[in-house]
Amino acid sequence: MAITYNPQTKQFHLRADKTSYIMRLFHSGYLAHVYWGKAVRDCQAARGFPRLNRAFSANPFPSDRTFSLDTLPQEYPAYGNSDFRAPAYQVQLENGSTVTDLRYKTHHIYKGKPRLNGLPATYVEHEYEAETLEIVLEDGLIGLRVTLQYTVYEKWNVITRAARFENNGNERLKLLRALSMSIDFPDADYDWIHLPGAWARERWVERCPLLTGVQAAESRRGASSHQQNPFIALVRKNTDEHQGEVYGFSLVYSGHFLAQIEVDQFQTARVSMGINPFDFTWLLEPGESFQTPEVVMVYSDQGLNGMSQTYHELYRTRLARGTFRDRVRPILINNWEATYFHFNEEKLVNIAKTAAELGIELFVLDDGWFGERDDDRRSLGDWVVNRRKLPHGLDGLAKQVNELGLQFGLWIEPEMVSPNSELYRKHPDWVLHVPNRPRSEGRNQLVLDYSRQDVCDYIIETISNVLASAPIAYVKWDMNRHMTEIGSAALPPERQRETAHRYILGLYRVMDEITSRFPYILFESCSGGGGRFDPGILYYMPQTWTSDNTDAISRLKIQYGTSLVYPISAMGAHVSAVPNHQVKRMTPLKTRGHVAMSGNFGYELDITKLTEKEKETIKEQVAFYKDVRHLVQFGTFYRLLSPFAGNEAAWMFVSADRSEALVAYFRVLAEANAPLSYLRLKGLDPNQDYEVEGLGVYGGDELMYAGVALPYRLGDFISMMWRLKAVQR
Ligand code: GLA
Repeated sequence: MAITYNPQTKQFHLRADKTSYIMRLFHSGYLAHVYWGKAVRDCQAARGFPRLNRAFSANPFPSDRTFSLDTLPQEYPAYGNSDFRAPAYQVQLENGSTVTDLRYKTHHIYKGKPRLNGLPATYVEHEYEAETLEIVLEDGLIGLRVTLQYTVYEKWNVITRAARFENNGNERLKLLRALSMSIDFPDADYDWIHLPGAWARERWVERCPLLTGVQAAESRRGASSHQQNPFIALVRKNTDEHQGEVYGFSLVYSGHFLAQIEVDQFQTARVSMGINPFDFTWLLEPGESFQTPEVVMVYSDQGLNGMSQTYHELYRTRLARGTFRDRVRPILINNWEATYFHFNEEKLVNIAKTAAELGIELFVLDDGWFGERDDDRRSLGDWVVNRRKLPHGLDGLAKQVNELGLQFGLWIEPEMVSPNSELYRKHPDWVLHVPNRPRSEGRNQLVLDYSRQDVCDYIIETISNVLASAPIAYVKWDMNRHMTEIGSAALPPERQRETAHRYILGLYRVMDEITSRFPYILFESCSGGGGRFDPGILYYMPQTWTSDNTDAISRLKIQYGTSLVYPISAMGAHVSAVPNHQVKRMTPLKTRGHVAMSGNFGYELDITKLTEKEKETIKEQVAFYKDVRHLVQFGTFYRLLSPFAGNEAAWMFVSADRSEALVAYFRVLAEANAPLSYLRLKGLDPNQDYEVEGLGVYGGDELMYAGVALPYRLGDFISMMWRLKAVQR
């Protein structure tokens, strides 16, 4: 049994692999948090705690000055009745008041894990994989019910949480805040880690000590965004990549989010996460319900690698879905950085022809194939092929590409419309906007109002027609601007602040419908690179374009940071031209190859212009990647050296049976007369010998504890990659 309830102590005990998570009912039904961490048989901590006078914190029961919600560790705290910390939710009544009081009503424990209505979430394939606890809390005065949903994965150190609101009363309730989870840690002796960034430098790892007061990562941009990612972790001061305690929180959502930590007067730390309450309200009519997205919480006492490996396995196998979930991904060539908008059929076919000769498997036609799209100022929304550029249509081009032995893939940006387009001229109301105000543009485009059912239905049909019009095996689904003037012409005034969340629900419906209609298409999401690299989208599309920055050295940090949460099989990585288009850096083709081969491999440059020698190198890279991609995409990933810490980076991939591994090492700048160093590997079998390609045979124990002596090399931006295979000595 992963979940038990003890009626004597009124304690719930959730056991996920080697983790315990314990809650307890206090007084007249307050749900308190007792413990989360390494597995324990039981936890009496709450009983041993000295009860002090808490009159300055306010007491809900005047006769008991030692009881205050302000000092009680809680699971889903309310606002307004003696807890002054950040609440998990807030509801406004018809009389204007915003004070509610949720108490325990009942609970249910059952095998398996339910789907979350209209939202992406982790799932089970068999009921025995997980157990679920639903705790029903109720405010009897107004008939508000909140069900706290907990699922424990028996095989992993994973607990998921979400909450469902139901209005069982007679008045209209307004949700002002409806977070997915809240948890109170008994001390604040942690650092917190988050993944801030910007366009072309997404998900840099930032680690800061917790300070008294509120610290948060959040998005108000209509997407999870480049600027923040819906992930935070608390780590102990001594935690590093390989050891120490970590608590990870990852929100399965793609819109406005809030991940917040509040350290209070007694140095307890409240972590809360969910849809950003900023500019959010949701009207709940009698009989209606509201489901929050899911937070995936991972505990590890094996450092950050331990946490990441759990996220990788869970997200790769129980979040991502579809035909391609467990399939190795094709090596692709994308024409974007090769041609931008300036191409014709002949040019594309030439690129595909050269790609075929080098062993590349998929040709992707990027932006510029439709309407009058010769630059980014027009035609989004007009998904009709441009016959001037492609006289034989998409179908004609795709067939030529297929005849060369490559599959054909296509770029689309279905959430957007250019003001200069037929679609916008016909339906100016179909975009996000507010009455009588100008509509701000980003990259000369407006955002279609996916909170509207008619817009979503139109897009489903239009895009389905495009995808059915040619032998399309892959789609790059882009989204290139954030939201402004968030409002919908289809919603009444009291529901305007629902628009952003309704947009995301609409988007999920559209993605669900289109990906289900075309199960044989591999979908890769994109948002100006990695602006929507989040678990919500991964549920529909198993891979994401990691960043528009294709420079190998910049990518070390971007891919390292991304790997904190997201599996390698989700990360698109391409070799591009030098000087690099984003940073103008010159890096060796070998290094560019090694960085890109550390993800879903591809090329994005005009390969027809390369020298014979360069083409030969690419041919070798392609053949090598085909040989190792099962390891890269499905192996266990270990970060070894952080590019944020210095001049080097290293990581490795190990097969499940530990008989094979692939190690990548990168050094940014050369140093004269530099010290010699060793790279200590991880995850190998200490009793097994390994042939390290080019370096000889070594014991797994030696490779992990003494390390590999790094060959002495001069030059900037160098890389090395070794393949390891178990051998008998
Ligand atoms: C975005 C994407 C790029 C490319 C362009 C096309 O920036 O991230 O990869 O597809 O759009 O306009």
